[in-house]
Amino acid sequence: MEPNIQLKDISLVYMTRNGERVDAITNLSADIYPGEFVSIVGPSGCGKSTLIQLIDGLLKPTTGTVTVNNRRVTGPSPDRAVVFQDFALMPWRDVNRNVLLGPELRGKTGAFRQKALDTLRMVGLRGFERKFPYQLSGGMKQRAAIARALTNEPEILLMDEPFAAVDAQMREIMQEELIRIWQATGKTVLFITHSIDEAIYMSTRVLLMSARPGRIIEELKIDLPYPRTLEVKNSPRYFEYRSHVWDHLKNEVHKVYDTQAS
Ligand SMILES: Nc1ncnc2c1ncn2[C@@H]1O[C@H](COP(=O)(O)OP(=O)(O)OP(=O)(O)O)[C@@H](O)[C@H]1O
Ligand SMILES: [Mg+2]
Repeated sequence: MEPNIQLKDISLVYMTRNGERVDAITNLSADIYPGEFVSIVGPSGCGKSTLIQLIDGLLKPTTGTVTVNNRRVTGPSPDRAVVFQDFALMPWRDVNRNVLLGPELRGKTGAFRQKALDTLRMVGLRGFERKFPYQLSGGMKQRAAIARALTNEPEILLMDEPFAAVDAQMREIMQEELIRIWQATGKTVLFITHSIDEAIYMSTRVLLMSARPGRIIEELKIDLPYPRTLEVKNSPRYFEYRSHVWDHLKNEVHKVYDTQAS
């Protein structure tokens, strides 16, 4: 099978306003295949959000190439959608108009009206079309953001710590919902999280990133059945994955904190 997303030896250097050079990503390569649910875990500041922006096409790699379905990424396109940590809903638009933002920008609101209603039903927000973001709970805002991403009918869903701002119980519900949506739609999901548990619980594969400049230090296939019930979560195998990930990540996390402390 051909990879859906191909990252070939990419690096990204930021130049700050005062001329400082920040090596965010160095020599990072990865292949992501159609229908995979891949999580990326790595210490703070290692370049995870940068990576999402590179795949979305908002940033261009300094060296190396990003390809989606064998085509070089040159900018954002409806075949990829991003869900951000802070939802990024527009406060002056109601749910329906937030969800239809992508089609509207492409002048295709009419053609996507039904799709918007279908995705709102899928995320459990039917009946909330006329509500504004301030009238929604954190979990509902996150669902609206996911519905907006799905309404564009992307092949690839890029999620940058999407559940970081919702409370712990809502997070568990959202995790289950996202797995359900992923299984129902067959999309390729790239999911950034700080939580080792969340990564193992959700994914078919987990990629671990080093401290900045970020590169992939380990890939781990998660061979656990779906649905990942409480039983799965309490299985010896699950704990093996957990300690394996933490073993590999520990040093990288220390690098970040030790630099800050010194
Ligand atoms: N526009 C920018 N200009 C300069 N440096 C930047 C810029 N954006 C990000 N950086 C730096 O690049 C590095 C990677 O940032 P990035 O946001 O990708 O990390 P991250 O892994 O998403 O971090 P976190 O886990 O905290 O979200 C960090 O050191 C960050 O300070
Ligand atoms: Mg980030």
